[in-house]
Amino acid sequence: MSSKLSTFICQNCGSETSQYFGRCLNCNSWNCIVEEIKIKSSKYQDIKNNKKSIPFNEISSKKISRFTSGFREFDRVLGGGIVPGSVVLLGGEPGIGKSTIVLQSAGKISLNEKVLYITAEESLEQVKIRWERLNQNSIDLKIFAETNLSLIIEEIKRVNPCFAIIDSIQAIHNQEMESSPGSVSQVRACSSELQNLAKDNNIALLIIGHVTKDGALAGPKTLEHLVDTVINFEGDKISSHRILKSIKNRFGSTFEIGIFEMLEGGLREIKNPSSIFTNKENISGVTTTITNEGTRPLAVDIQALVNKTFYSNPRRTTTGISINRLHQILAVIEKHVGIKLSEFDCYIATGGGFEINDPSSDLGVAISILSSLKNIPPLANTSFIGELGLSGQVRKSNNLRIKIEEAVRLGIKNIVVPKLEEEINNNFQNLINIKEISNIKEAVDYSLSK
Ligand code: TYD
Ligand code: MG
Repeated sequence: MSSKLSTFICQNCGSETSQYFGRCLNCNSWNCIVEEIKIKSSKYQDIKNNKKSIPFNEISSKKISRFTSGFREFDRVLGGGIVPGSVVLLGGEPGIGKSTIVLQSAGKISLNEKVLYITAEESLEQVKIRWERLNQNSIDLKIFAETNLSLIIEEIKRVNPCFAIIDSIQAIHNQEMESSPGSVSQVRACSSELQNLAKDNNIALLIIGHVTKDGALAGPKTLEHLVDTVINFEGDKISSHRILKSIKNRFGSTFEIGIFEMLEGGLREIKNPSSIFTNKENISGVTTTITNEGTRPLAVDIQALVNKTFYSNPRRTTTGISINRLHQILAVIEKHVGIKLSEFDCYIATGGGFEINDPSSDLGVAISILSSLKNIPPLANTSFIGELGLSGQVRKSNNLRIKIEEAVRLGIKNIVVPKLEEEINNNFQNLINIKEISNIKEAVDYSLSK
């Protein structure tokens, strides 16, 4: 027996109301509320429960053994490999390479484990054509083209794989519900059934979900709390670099990144990513900083172009750092270095457009701006690390030790940093020339005097 229940669901944020509104009361977006019919099935009431609570001391603490995804970069983002029984949501814009990375990974995992790839968007032949481009081997890899959730669940139970992939959650549907595939209630209902299946059978499950840049079509957004790990696959479709970033991870640290390159024959991992975001040239307007992404230090160039303006309001644009951060840095330079910048346009771009969130890139941005303004190259072979305080002081940076280690590894000669603990300084003697500074003025005098 089942009863029908009508609710109104915002397709943007997933909030539910009992009547229609033109504008969502929760996220304020317009025309995104859709009526959806839920089926309240009585089957939930007659579940036979044969699970029991057990004494805490009896739970064995043996380490969960993860298995590799076949890519070191992917494993790093997952916190060291795939955890059996875990559910991972892989989000990203259409066409970014989600199907490609999971198919490559499926092939590699299938050399040791049983893998089931469920394709709901492409036919078996289309997947085969993709596979042929990838030039890979597989052993225990099964593929199933289906969009109906009950058939998918039946097949997963029958095959009982170690690792299963759903490509994608927006394309499958639960026939008991009347809403269309991709709607918030379908996406939620299908995911929670799949999640229960994965947990009960100890199957690692990877669910693909499409997300557009502005977060619209964000069915998957509403799933983030359901799954164990949320990973985003990002990149500029024009450039070949792709970044895998963990947004949430119950089994590892968040904001961990993995870097790949999309080639003719699929994705290739980049083992030394610092090399792709830096150019190692000593010209005016360019500095190098070392940021921290997850647990990984990464060298990135910061380029500035400062020009006399022709506008009444000078132009300020950024690629890779936030515009508000740039405004703040410009204000600090005006006040504490005593240089008037209101007559200049200022453009900032990071190497490869890499998005830097670490505030310790401030010093690099400030020195690049002043270097471009004065047309003087900064001190050669130097990295700049430090967050700029509003009073012009250079504040401590987190993970400074691993950032300096990365600079040493890359063969950088000088590094300009905030005041260090003595112990760190002693560790790096003879390896790199460390210049400790306490404010922006000192940094400018040290690195831009000719
Ligand atoms: P795809 O994995 O289908 O994206 P998604 O599943 O996220 O929608 O990737 C499609 C893009 O990747 C397409 O523009 C072609 C490109 N591509 C390559 O450049 N090399 C390859 O080997 C493959 C398989 C795809
Ligand atoms: Mg795809």
